[in-house]
Amino acid sequence: MTLIAIDKERLYASLNELGEIGAYDDAEAGVRGVNRLALTAADGAGRRHVVARMRAANLEVTIDRIGNVYGRRAGRDNRLRSVMMGSHIDSVPTAGRFDGCLGVLGALEVVATLDRAKIETERPVVVAFFTDEEGSRFGTDMLGSAVATGRLALEDAYALRDRSGATVHDELENVGFLGEADVRLTPPHAYLECHIEQGPILRASGMDIGVVTGVQSISWHELTIVGKSAHAGTTPMPMRADAGVAAARINLHLREMIASGRYGRDMRATMGAISPSPGLVNIVPGRVTATVDLRNPDDAFMRAAEADVIAFYDEAARAEHVRIAWRQTARTPCVPFDEGLQAHIARCAGARGLAHTRIVSGAGHDAQEMAHITRAAMVFVPGENDGISHNPRELSTPEQCAGGVSVLFDVLRLLAAEKD
Ligand code: HGY
Ligand code: MN
Ligand code: MN
Repeated sequence: MTLIAIDKERLYASLNELGEIGAYDDAEAGVRGVNRLALTAADGAGRRHVVARMRAANLEVTIDRIGNVYGRRAGRDNRLRSVMMGSHIDSVPTAGRFDGCLGVLGALEVVATLDRAKIETERPVVVAFFTDEEGSRFGTDMLGSAVATGRLALEDAYALRDRSGATVHDELENVGFLGEADVRLTPPHAYLECHIEQGPILRASGMDIGVVTGVQSISWHELTIVGKSAHAGTTPMPMRADAGVAAARINLHLREMIASGRYGRDMRATMGAISPSPGLVNIVPGRVTATVDLRNPDDAFMRAAEADVIAFYDEAARAEHVRIAWRQTARTPCVPFDEGLQAHIARCAGARGLAHTRIVSGAGHDAQEMAHITRAAMVFVPGENDGISHNPRELSTPEQCAGGVSVLFDVLRLLAAEKD
């Protein structure tokens, strides 16, 4: 297969253009960050921008009932199932310009390159972006792709609420993306996703491409800890029911679990959100909402770690005389990616002289949902600044992005030529 160059400058310009939608000046990071939290006005503006890009590329655009958007390029034989490339364009509130966007804009660059080279593929090609991959606002990650592949019911997704009580359904309507197309995806022939690694491994090892073997398991809990608000000066310590100290005990237990190694060397645990109430200097916090994020590349270790941390909630409650309620807000097992697609990615990277290595994804992705209905795989690109992500300092160079999208282009062409 002749190697065709994608347009590195146009790709990078498109990332910067989308990155200006929902942009803000992040004083701490010292650079412009991106805040396109799912189904906010900024996300709506980003969505309209990408839909306009899809239409300008003559793609047939479909919006489904959970707001997933699909842009379809006809093939020679449109009876054949499509090859889909996708990711997400919603972001965490303190994001960079690459997480998710590289997969969507990279897929549009693949389409532009096919058009420029006047290549007609045998199979139709679809560019997709899924709703609320991050889960930061409504608490469940990979929301749109999980509904599209049947892991989550549409009505349950519609009913999810953010902290202000707004529902997914109403927010979809507010941003104008409560589509009409059925949510359940007909399984595509295959699914590919180009994404930044969001970690330090590829850059530190001088690799250009990560051939992703799969995604580790993820478990999210939301805790509500109820003690007793009291005067910080007059309340003797033995009389306190301090929800803040209970949360701190749990956070330190997470660290102890990791340090012990009893759930494997690669376990990761984070208490990302800790919100005390009333949250004032001279009041013992009577209530804390907090989150627990567990990750493990081994399903058995993950189950054991979950049991450990749930048992510890009771221990922390007894020690601090508080009540702790918790609910599971996200839970996905380890998901392996298709080995045949991995081999294609490795071979195409090699053919372009790109150094590549197998790597497990530390982060969750829409590809792990698509893997339940079709062959799915991911192409990772390295990141600068130690691969930092979910931070405005997230940065991949034009060369790193172009390398990943070039491999995406080559593998797409192989798959779009496959007969049934
Ligand atoms: O949390 C994750 O792993 C992904 O960024 N949503
Ligand atoms: Mn992502
Ligand atoms: Mn992310």
